[in-house]
Amino acid sequence: MTQTDRTRERLIETYRKKAKHYDITSRLYPAPGYPQRTQRLRAVLALGLGPGDTVVDIACGTGLNFPLLEKVVGPGGRIVGVDLTDAMLARAQDRMETNGWSNVSLVQADAAGFDFPAGVNAILSTYAMTQVPECAEVIAHGAKALSGGGRWVVLDLKVPGGTPGWLAQLGTATVRPFASIDEWIMRRPWDVIRAAMQEELAYLSWTELCFGTAFLAAGSRGPGTFGVRPRESGHQ
Ligand SMILES: C[S@@+](CC[C@H](N)C(=O)[O-])C[C@H]1O[C@@H](n2cnc3c(N)ncnc32)[C@H](O)[C@@H]1O
Repeated sequence: MTQTDRTRERLIETYRKKAKHYDITSRLYPAPGYPQRTQRLRAVLALGLGPGDTVVDIACGTGLNFPLLEKVVGPGGRIVGVDLTDAMLARAQDRMETNGWSNVSLVQADAAGFDFPAGVNAILSTYAMTQVPECAEVIAHGAKALSGGGRWVVLDLKVPGGTPGWLAQLGTATVRPFASIDEWIMRRPWDVIRAAMQEELAYLSWTELCFGTAFLAAGSRGPGTFGVRPRESGHQ
């Protein structure tokens, strides 16, 4: 078993334990009072979806984004939720049944090996992509599956620039119990994600949220030829 396999096994075990109470405990994520719902809303708006569109939610967990996505794609649209952890998907299934949504399909898969359906209008990933060691490949695979003008949006946590290593470790210890905190800080997956999105998408926007503790990255597939336009940056 490789180190990556071991990390993945630990991650699945962690989310199996969390699944039952995830919808409640995640409200405290990464800290009580954190504006997670506002950030999710911004991420969904950044997808630029309309009625009848198809969206893939990568590492969808229990489907906390689904109500927001349902509002924009409507009953004629389609949501594909993908996640590695069976127990998280079981919760997402409960959510679908409770709400009577017949336009959601769930796929248990590793994002790294997921075969994106061709021609999707948008791809979303919230609070998950920095946990995926192959995040750059996932972004590249997804970008190729997007329809012309389709959007890829990633919302996730990061360490604010200029934070001393010891403070970053302390701050992230509570939210990354399944993996080496040092590894996450050292690897700086948000930089990997930004570089991959710049490489694969046009019109990339990168916005730092909540004092640099999160980022919202959104890019679109050009209508024909690919080309990276000068990026916009913002801090909020
Ligand atoms: C913090 S939860 C976020 C869930 C959801 N996106 C949300 O915003 O509430 C992280 C999720 O990522 C999933 N995950 C982590 N690595 C993954 C991978 N390589 N492929 C698919 N899902 C993965 C976990 O199973 C878990 O459900």
